Amino acid sequence: MSNKMWGGRFESAPDEIMEEINASIEFDQVMFRQDIAASRAHVAMLSEAGIVTKEDAAAIGAGLDQVLGEIESGKFEFSRALEDIHMNVESRLTEIVGPAAGRLHTARSRNDQVAVDFRLWVRDAVDALDGQLRALQQALAETAASHAATVMPGFTHLQPAQPVTFGHHLLAFVEMLGRDRGRLRDARRRMNECPLGAAALAGTSFPINREMTARALGFDRPTANSLDSVSDRDFALETLSAIAICATHLSRFAEEVVLWTGPFFGFLKLSDKFSTGSSIMPQKRNPDAAELVRGKTGRMIGALSGLLVVMKGLPLAYSKDMQEDKEGVFDAVQTLSLCLAAVTGMVRDMQPDVDAMRAAAGIGFSTATDIADWLVRRLGMPFRQAHHVTGRVVALASSRGVGLDQLTLDELRSIEPRFEVDVLDVLGVEKSVSSRASFGGTAPANVSAQAAKWLDLLSGELPA
Ligand code: ARG
Repeated sequence: MSNKMWGGRFESAPDEIMEEINASIEFDQVMFRQDIAASRAHVAMLSEAGIVTKEDAAAIGAGLDQVLGEIESGKFEFSRALEDIHMNVESRLTEIVGPAAGRLHTARSRNDQVAVDFRLWVRDAVDALDGQLRALQQALAETAASHAATVMPGFTHLQPAQPVTFGHHLLAFVEMLGRDRGRLRDARRRMNECPLGAAALAGTSFPINREMTARALGFDRPTANSLDSVSDRDFALETLSAIAICATHLSRFAEEVVLWTGPFFGFLKLSDKFSTGSSIMPQKRNPDAAELVRGKTGRMIGALSGLLVVMKGLPLAYSKDMQEDKEGVFDAVQTLSLCLAAVTGMVRDMQPDVDAMRAAAGIGFSTATDIADWLVRRLGMPFRQAHHVTGRVVALASSRGVGLDQLTLDELRSIEPRFEVDVLDVLGVEKSVSSRASFGGTAPANVSAQAAKWLDLLSGELPA
């Protein structure tokens, strides 16, 4: 049997392998709601514009509803011979409505159909991810609020640098996720133009009303160039790029969970709910969820590079290569969604070991900068010189095998005679963090205020 959709020009059916490589129904069936919504909008417009009679339009509309119901209830039989979701829906519609169903495809093509369906799908996905990102920000900000004054080591080069608070560290991720949401919102705003009516590539000779279909589908406006409408997938690339960046943020958080739950750090505990055991080593508690969040980042970044490579050599307008745009996007969206749920679960589950963090905060002469700052503040010493003097203080403590806060005033004065007794005050880790009260700094008062600001902002948004 030759093809129902283009059989006029063809005498025989495709080769088995042609059918297999050509079909996308196995994955693009997830767009059935978008496909049917776009067809409903299209036929309503065709009827309004007098291109299709009211009767045919009503029959097609009712038929589309029936198809939707059949798919939703799992009764629909998808056929690989019908290639993709567009032809599967239209073929079933024809069985239900009869030849009038053939009028639905007036003034459109699968090229603008797939462009509109995919945009609608990605737009929904972006909205769902935004809700999940909001929930994760909320979990992080709540934990930050209760640990605004919990002192822990801050690192650079993964070496002890200066003490910070746990709340401050968590809020760093709230900021990153805020920008991730901004990137998704930007992508959404740019993608929210309707390509329907671009038809195959050149537009159509029928008097269609593209404003009407755009509005019906929740788009801001119709796209302005028919070639661009069916050729570009930059909306998917932008979304994948935002996903890849967000995944990278989650991966860095996950890496810290892996490090911090291990015995060498011992800063965090995950309950049995978020730990796994080993089949051979009875003592093990592994942070598998965190490792998988870190690992899955690879495939999300891969989806972005994959689609960039698909697109880079394509002449305008549509080429079938573009059918390769979907699986990576579907997988990346689903994967990020899973990772966001897992990280939110871990944040709500994790118990910080406040004493271990506090004890580690003083390791590695972490308050050395506070001594240098004292020399600048109290003696008016240029910072570079203060840095040098403090270096000698650190060397002394190191050679004696003690921490900075265990040095006596006399020992400090052997290096700089103008040291006063109040320098001993700046050596404690609590003092150190509370002194960093510059805007954006780690002082507990700042952290509390920032956590409160975020919680207020987040509670003003609709929950996920
Ligand atoms: N399944 C196709 C895709 O995903 C739909 C568009 C087909 N267009 C065409 N001219 N063959 O891209």
